Amino acid sequence: MDNFTFYSPTYFVFGKDQENDTGKYVKRFGGTRVLIHYGGGSAARSGLLDRVKASLEREGISYTELGGVVPNPRSGLVYKGIDLCRKEKVDFILAVGGGSVIDSAKAIAAGVPYDGDFWDFYKGKPVTEALPVGTVLTISAAGSEGSSNSVITHEDGMYKRGAGGDAMRPVFSILNPALTQTLPPYQIACGITDMMAHLFERYFTRTSDVEVTDRMIEGLLLAIINEAPKVVKDPADYQAQANIMWAGMMAHNNSCGVGRSQDWASHAMEHELSALYDVAHGAGLAVVFPAWMTYMLDRGGVNRLAQLAVRVWGCQMDFENPVNTAKAGIEKLKQFLKSIGMPINFSELGAKEEDIEEMAHKACYGDGGDGTIGGFVKLNKEDVINIYRLML
Ligand code: NZQ
Ligand code: ZN
Repeated sequence: MDNFTFYSPTYFVFGKDQENDTGKYVKRFGGTRVLIHYGGGSAARSGLLDRVKASLEREGISYTELGGVVPNPRSGLVYKGIDLCRKEKVDFILAVGGGSVIDSAKAIAAGVPYDGDFWDFYKGKPVTEALPVGTVLTISAAGSEGSSNSVITHEDGMYKRGAGGDAMRPVFSILNPALTQTLPPYQIACGITDMMAHLFERYFTRTSDVEVTDRMIEGLLLAIINEAPKVVKDPADYQAQANIMWAGMMAHNNSCGVGRSQDWASHAMEHELSALYDVAHGAGLAVVFPAWMTYMLDRGGVNRLAQLAVRVWGCQMDFENPVNTAKAGIEKLKQFLKSIGMPINFSELGAKEEDIEEMAHKACYGDGGDGTIGGFVKLNKEDVINIYRLML
């Protein structure tokens, strides 16, 4: 296991009706003038936004609003939010929505106290200062409610990039599983795929003796695989949604990733797909991950893949030919993703073969890239092209 530091300051409030106390938590964490940031309409339609506003009013906290965050959130609204916060002297950002809303809120929070262009953070500058962000989560997926990251697409060039820094971790996150009951099954399945991908990105490591985090990842995957069919079939299943919601947070606040090298090439390849075709992040990952795993079969990935196949997918270990076990595990993953309604190839995603070269170039070199991606195996542009081809 490698040396590490781990800082997870977020105060989590979990369970039914907890959003009615949002105002109390904003006050507790020092907010006096709040920007409520939200998406395209689901939070207004469900009445959630009104309940949150009422709770702020009960605490005598003033607020201003900025809605309209789209999935795969854009830079334009971030610039607008930064200007608005400065003009209104906002001292707290409250994100009401999913990963996209939370990421946009984090970008605004980092941008307000910063003299330069907020995009510098998405080119690799660590975020060390930000306004406090609180969240009321409405979808189990990205894990942004507990993570130190934010992912934004710059409209100038359509670069989808991530920024990071503990200063961006939310000060509180309210997780009421009942709020996710209005999600369509497809969106739920996208979220499940994303949280599984966050676990895979950490599982494929070059660090040895990481038994605790290996077992945590495997345990979370087993729980997700068990609960997923229930929530996709019946989004009203509160207990299954509760398990999925906490799994999504655990998968990405990095408690399972400490002390080990991680990969993240699949996320980089997916970000090109969602930047170009505006597909849901989880749907893109459903196509990318099996292809990346297949490419790893003859690049040193067999042992990890076979271990995953045995411990998570229940495959029999073939000691003479562990590659057979590894392949069986990849097949199980594909079947599972298909069973929850995810796409499995380029055409189902609406992606085009002729764009492969451009996406590979952007993934490796675009906007500050050094020509390679991935920590488990360093992939160059040619590798990335080969992996995209496996998705056809
Ligand atoms: O905009 P509204 O109307 O709210 O609709 C949203 C949106 O269309 C809808 N939705 C959310 N909650 C709902 C609901 N519909 C009905 N009922 C509800 N309760 O769902 C759609 C998707 O929302 P979005 O926030 O985009 O989903 P998600 O949480 O999956 O976030 C995806 C974004 O997070 C990034 C992704 O790249 C993508 O841009 N990621 C962020 C990470 C992070 N910050 O740590 C890590 C991830 O790897 C990921 O890259
Ligand atoms: Zn993700």
